Amino acid sequence: MHRISRTQAVPLPNHRGRLALYAAFFVLALIASIGSNPYAANASVLQLHGALSRVESFGIISHRGAAALAPENTLAAMRLAFDQGVDFVEADMHLTADGVPVLMHDSTLDRTTNGTGEVSAYSLEQIRRLDAGSWFGPEFAGEPVPTLEEFLNELAPTNSRALIELKGEWHDEQIAGAVKMLGERYLVDRVAFESFELANLERLAILAPEYARVMLTRDWNRATLETAAELKVSAIGARNQVFERDFGLVADARVLGIGTMVYTLNTEKQWAKARSYGIDLVITDDPVSLAAWRGDPSGEV
Ligand code: G3P
Ligand code: CA
Repeated sequence: MHRISRTQAVPLPNHRGRLALYAAFFVLALIASIGSNPYAANASVLQLHGALSRVESFGIISHRGAAALAPENTLAAMRLAFDQGVDFVEADMHLTADGVPVLMHDSTLDRTTNGTGEVSAYSLEQIRRLDAGSWFGPEFAGEPVPTLEEFLNELAPTNSRALIELKGEWHDEQIAGAVKMLGERYLVDRVAFESFELANLERLAILAPEYARVMLTRDWNRATLETAAELKVSAIGARNQVFERDFGLVADARVLGIGTMVYTLNTEKQWAKARSYGIDLVITDDPVSLAAWRGDPSGEV
């Protein structure tokens, strides 16, 4: 049998050919590296990831909108928070019985509306008839429970960034629906998701890896950090007391490129403590005072 020698089968390329091969290899390697890193695809998303994991001083997140000035999680509170120019505006989302995301912190309607019972037991149409403002003050009477879509319509024309908390467990279609609404408004570089539910973070990582994610946690130990790293989140968020358990883990998180976020701090004493821990982001009901304390010019956030 005639055998083909190695030199016959694969002739060595000349100098120009080798250059072309190197160039092709470089382009393929570049494409592969972009494909493996969801943040590399878009410089502004990378910036958002950075804002969640490292800022010079800590970043300020307005809790449930401007919750000290207007009824939490209403559009009135969100508009005020956008005007304050905070680093991020936080909003909580629950699902109605017919699967529509609405801005609501509690799983029940009782505290912040004139309704009673579980949010998930009522359709959007029923929830829209409720008053989510009077409990806070008569000037907010008739303020409705907003939908995620309405919130995004308010957010889109601003320069603000938002942190959207998914309360309870969301199915694939529900997450995909929220992501679609964000995509239609080109908000990938201005919105990050957060959740206590690991299943939500896993689903987001699969369905929408381009969105930055924050893992909320009630624990703070080596295993928490490993989970956060596996889920490729940008930051971990917890109560102040949780971080006090082990300061070393804050530094370990930073080494992994994972930011730390603490909630909900409203006094100078708490802010100073968080800064001494090396926390990256603080959630507060009083962002204007925190900005002044942080040293922003004229108390602007
Ligand atoms: O963003 C985290 C923080 O808001 C979680 O606490 O109860 O205010 O939603 P909660
Ligand atoms: Ca929240």
